[in-house]
Amino acid sequence: MTVRGSSSVMASRREPPDSLDFFPTPPWATRALLVEVLPQVCGHLHLLTAWDPACGEGHMVEVLAEQITFAKGSDVFDYGRGYPVADFLDADTRLRPGADLICTNPPFNAAVKFALKALDEAPVVALLLRTVWVEGEGRYEALFRDRAPTVFAPFVERVPMVKGRWDPDARSATSYAWFVWVDGEPARAPLWIPPGQRRMRTRPDDARRFGVAADAPLFDLVAAE
Ligand SMILES: C[S@@+](CC[C@H](N)C(=O)[O-])C[C@H]1O[C@@H](n2cnc3c(N)ncnc32)[C@H](O)[C@@H]1O
Repeated sequence: MTVRGSSSVMASRREPPDSLDFFPTPPWATRALLVEVLPQVCGHLHLLTAWDPACGEGHMVEVLAEQITFAKGSDVFDYGRGYPVADFLDADTRLRPGADLICTNPPFNAAVKFALKALDEAPVVALLLRTVWVEGEGRYEALFRDRAPTVFAPFVERVPMVKGRWDPDARSATSYAWFVWVDGEPARAPLWIPPGQRRMRTRPDDARRFGVAADAPLFDLVAAE
């Protein structure tokens, strides 16, 4: 299913259970992947289709659609946004759209399962996760030892995420990184995503598109560019 980019994501809200870890991604963080990371690791590939299999209300997939011709979303919960409802981890699911890129920020506790499944489904996989995800014996054994990401790309600045909504003014002490795998490409040196992404990649219409009742600071940021 192709995304609908024209309507506000707040149009019809439905509350998911806490266990689903619904933390919408600030739009600028996905644009940073598209501009600062993917061209450097798979610029030679033509990514025609992308899939966020845990798309929530569409905060990430609608941004993917700005650059990728066919961007699709699905989620295990029906947020009332019209995306197909499917459990990405269910081996029997019939939803298999096929994509050049699987890009999402999965629930932290299921992220290894998401990574392994995504690596089976697409040649390029990009996961946005807390930087601490890079460590841990369990994750090393289950994933990183045999399938190290092509690039680990930490944000230099914080990427504030709050439960259930995108708040452009939120602050956070939690650090995030993009973990990107490109089929056939060995691991390379970390790539630091330079500071200033939030400022540079927040767009004037993000507040309308992503349903935030923006206050002055957001528009100050945009006006200052
Ligand atoms: C951190 S949110 C990310 C939402 C969206 N990708 C974004 O960036 O705004 C995690 C999402 O994973 C979804 N989810 C959790 N378990 C899932 C599963 N097994 N299959 C598909 N989606 C799942 C939740 O409903 C939630 O929308």
